[in-house]
Amino acid sequence: RQGKKDRAFKIYGLVRDFYRILLGKDIGARALQYLESRNLSGAARETFQLGYAPPGWDNLIKFLAARGIREEEMVKLGLAQTRETGGCYDRFRNRVMFPIWDSQGRVVGFGGRTMGDDNPKYLNSPEGEFFNKGQLLYGLHIARKGIREIGYAVLMEGYMDVVSTYQHGVTNAVASLGTAFTRDQAKLLMAYTHDVVIAYDADAAGVKAAVRAAEILQNSGCQVRIATIPGAKDPDEFIQKNGLAGWQKIIENAVPLVQYKLMQAVKTYGLQNKRKVLQEVLPNLAAVASPIELEEAIKQTATVLQVNWETVLEEIKSFRKNTR
Ligand code: UTP
Ligand code: MN
Ligand code: MN
Ligand code: MN
Ligand code: MN
Repeated sequence: RQGKKDRAFKIYGLVRDFYRILLGKDIGARALQYLESRNLSGAARETFQLGYAPPGWDNLIKFLAARGIREEEMVKLGLAQTRETGGCYDRFRNRVMFPIWDSQGRVVGFGGRTMGDDNPKYLNSPEGEFFNKGQLLYGLHIARKGIREIGYAVLMEGYMDVVSTYQHGVTNAVASLGTAFTRDQAKLLMAYTHDVVIAYDADAAGVKAAVRAAEILQNSGCQVRIATIPGAKDPDEFIQKNGLAGWQKIIENAVPLVQYKLMQAVKTYGLQNKRKVLQEVLPNLAAVASPIELEEAIKQTATVLQVNWETVLEEIKSFRKNTR
């Protein structure tokens, strides 16, 4: 079992190095240019071990075959795919390659970004024995030092967010690799900190997923705030525009879940629709266990809605009664 795992780590390491070397060769010129167009530095490329999977059907297969690895094993590791007519072909072709590590820094899979607008934008390793997106956090082995030193973690959506913000000095960020944050990921993160700021994308999907992730983290016993990213679509774009100083303001302005939901509901329904706005946050208010936190949340809600705090308390009481 462990021998099999160690062998997989070793092969993934070989593959990572294969892609890395090609990024520096003539064939990787366009990929390098792509990364430069995204303003990624050489240092960031090195730290995150970025690479390039060349076009063609069997470049990696040949490379691995020459090192005694059978095609069957390449398929099992998600590096090659079988053809209906027999034989295999490289899974990753003509993509910028992001190795994905476990929390100890061993490569367990890859994400490959198209340089054009092919679908999917990112092709990841297939889910399987070695690679489970929901059980790892991208960049955790790099960020764990920063998380310990700074005292909290930042949760982002994507590869580019983590790499780009790291380059600008944010050393405590990890990515859930999409918007489907899981309990396992919460557990993983909480081995390092119980304090998380969520910085998902500014679009509707990001807002929705941020609320979900916050609920999962809170239920796991974590302290959570949610950041809002103004004037940019994600942390990568934001930090390129506003630098580390701008980023720090975003963190300072991050708010607890109830307040975040209030803000979103006011945006959706408007302040004249107080019932609708309150309905959005009542389940969250009713779930606050600590009296001090509840008082704080009630005050904030009352202020936003421009009603008396007693009114909010009454609403919470009747909500509790009705859902018992
Ligand atoms: P986004 O869709 O927010 O990426 O995906 P983006 O910000 O527009 O594109 P880049 O990275 O700046 O070029 C966020 C994350 O969701 C996962 C990836 O982990 C990605 O980093 N994702 C997205 C996939 O796995 N596959 C996809 O096709 C798209
Ligand atoms: Mn813990
Ligand atoms: Mn997104
Ligand atoms: Mn982006
Ligand atoms: Mn994004």
